[in-house]
Parts: sequence; C-alpha cells; structure tokens
Amino acid sequence: MNNQTPALYADCAYTLVTQEEISAICDRLAAEIQATYENSTRRLVMVVILKGSMPFAAELMKRLTLPLELEFMKVSSYGAGTKTSGEIKISLDLKRDDLQDIDLLVVEDIVDSGRTLSRLTTLLKNRNANSVRTCTLLDKPSRREVDFVPDFCGATIPDEFVVGFGLDYDEKYRNLPFVGVLRREVYEN
Ligand code: IMP
Ligand code: MG
Repeated sequence: MNNQTPALYADCAYTLVTQEEISAICDRLAAEIQATYENSTRRLVMVVILKGSMPFAAELMKRLTLPLELEFMKVSSYGAGTKTSGEIKISLDLKRDDLQDIDLLVVEDIVDSGRTLSRLTTLLKNRNANSVRTCTLLDKPSRREVDFVPDFCGATIPDEFVVGFGLDYDEKYRNLPFVGVLRREVYEN
C-alpha cells in the first residue's frame, strides 16, 4: 500500500480472499449446487440475505443454468459492532407464507456464531419448505456458538473480522472487490 491507495483499501491489513479466488470459489459452488438440484422437479428459490450477500449471490446465480427464482430477506444480528447480539431480527420477509413444494437455497455472506442461519433455517422449515439448504461464501467455524454446518461453503477462514465483497463494518467496505482483514485500529478505540 502506498500514497495512491484509496483510504478504503488502506483500512485493510491484508487481502484474505482475492477476486480471482472468489471467482474460482463461485465456479466450484455453482457446480455443487447445480449437481444437487439438477434432477429436482420442484421450484428452486434462491433466498438472498441482504445486504451482505448481494455481490456473492449475483456471481453465483449467473453460473447456474437451472431454472430458479429470486427472493430477498433482511436479517440482522450485528448492528454497528463486530460481535453478535444473539437475537436475529427479520426486517424484510418472504411474501409467501406457505413454501410447500419449494426448495429453498439461502445465500449468506459469512457464518460466524451460526445463530443467524440456524434460526433462519428452523423458521423456514417450519413454513413447510420441501427443503432448506444454505450456501455461504465464508465460514468462521472457530467462532461457532450453536451447532450449524452450511450445506455449501466457499472458504473457511480464521477468526478475523473481514470486510469487502458485500461484507461491511458499520455499512462501509461492501464495495471492495476482494475480502480483506480490517485493521484493528479501525474498530478498536
Ligand atoms: P452469526 O449469526 O454470528 O453467524 O452472524 C452472521 C452475520 O454476522 C453475518 O451475516 C454478517 O452480517 C456478520 N458477520 C460475522 N462475521 C463478520 C465479519 O468478519 N465481517 C463482517 N460481518 C460479519
Ligand atoms: Mg449478514
């Protein structure tokens, strides 16, 4: 990093997942997802968890040739900090309540304590979805507080706070094209 480096980039201590690696991850995950649903006759609905999963879901869906529908949910657990609060709040929900005969693929940016996706998948299964699977770009298994394993996982990462490619700190850094480790001095004062 030098004087020409934009401040947003300079707040990253180092790059953890490069653009090229993200692209390769999406290729692999799309192939896994394609193979999983290929022979299904049910409706496949991709549920994108806003806001963080937007760039990831966009990369993923253009690699899939299956017929699929797109829905969004907004689920928050973090607020402005870097530690989970435990509870999840649904501020945007699916329009339909009965999910009978639908296969849901929940797309998330990162799994940390596991609380968000564990609660969300339970809730969606209770609405009678035929199946509920989860796909995450990143996973921090060392931070897990509840028993939760994503069905599709892009990369397992160490216990670091990361930003970029959709992931934020205090709503910033989502537009970085790579995933970087945020410098501690940015959030510790
Ligand atoms: P969980 O419920 O603890 O698994 O939290 C998952 C959510 O926390 C993710 O959807 C992110 O919004 C947020 N999160 C967890 N770790 C990070 C991180 O390293 N950077 C940015 N957001 C994170
Ligand atoms: Mg999130």
